[in-house]
Amino acid sequence: MGSPIRERMLSLLLEREDAFLSGEEISRRLNCSRTAIWKHIKELRKEGYQIEARPKSGYRLVYRPDRVAPEELKPHLRTRSFGRRMQYQECVPSTQLLAHEWAKEGAEEGSLVITEEQTDGKGRMNRIWHSPPHSGIWMSLVLRPPIPVTEAPQLTLMASVAVTRTLRRETGLDVTIKWPNDLLVGGKKICGILTELRGEQDRVQYVVLGIGINVNVTPDFLPKELESIATSLAIEGGRTFQRPLLIAAILKELEEVYEGYLDHGFEPIRILWEEAAGMLGRIITAQTPEGPRRGEAVGLASSGALLLKTEEGTLPVYSSDIQI
Ligand code: BTN
Repeated sequence: MGSPIRERMLSLLLEREDAFLSGEEISRRLNCSRTAIWKHIKELRKEGYQIEARPKSGYRLVYRPDRVAPEELKPHLRTRSFGRRMQYQECVPSTQLLAHEWAKEGAEEGSLVITEEQTDGKGRMNRIWHSPPHSGIWMSLVLRPPIPVTEAPQLTLMASVAVTRTLRRETGLDVTIKWPNDLLVGGKKICGILTELRGEQDRVQYVVLGIGINVNVTPDFLPKELESIATSLAIEGGRTFQRPLLIAAILKELEEVYEGYLDHGFEPIRILWEEAAGMLGRIITAQTPEGPRRGEAVGLASSGALLLKTEEGTLPVYSSDIQI
């Protein structure tokens, strides 16, 4: 995590936009010495910020790298608790692992672990989640919902709804949900959600909600084997997106939808999910523990299971891979 002085110094420089900020003013407003200012300027430059220093005029921010560090994120946050406590590192094996450790140590609801790059990103069913540097949103949120373990899968659906609504609004792209937790654009995956929990007897102790979004990932950063099934917001939208703005918007929507879920239960989420899903009415094959089942996806049950209309009747599908 960055030092508070450095964060405040960056905020001052950002506020000033293209104009110079004198060393004297920084020193007065942050109550620190000129030597300390210089030390922080050098650190910021190492992180990729280009700061012009001119005698008599002071400092001016010329270029800010695309980072998701707290000093870039916090000015945009409009949430009550989500993301208010944050752990950030440039590169980690997986934000899921760090969030689990933090949750075990007592991290509060809404605590966020976020990074620029994962070297061992985790997908569902032990798959690898490819997370190249500075181009995606790789984050894990700690939740402590007072619900039974059996209802926890509803949180994945809740998160899919919140992220889909935000991405549609912020990017204008036609984002749809493939059950249970893949977000697609033009049939290709742009986002995956991984919900992991720790239970105590039959209650949820905590949940780590992992969200991975290919934001500015370019085709050369997509592994060959993913080319036909994965894409990014930038590839589909033909422009890059500012990750801090997207993250702040997602956390805001997620917090609202989550609070709605805790107050009013799953039914409103179920309705929103059915609106956002791009697969209702389609014929799909679901791999279930009893073998493949083919039928029409007709909706969501109140438990969160996918309802599949087959020749033998309408079946709830709980956990599976599906092919559309
Ligand atoms: C999937 O579709 O298989 C789920 C992918 C989840 C990826 C995210 S990225 C942030 C968090 N950290 C991880 O290691 N995985 C999740």
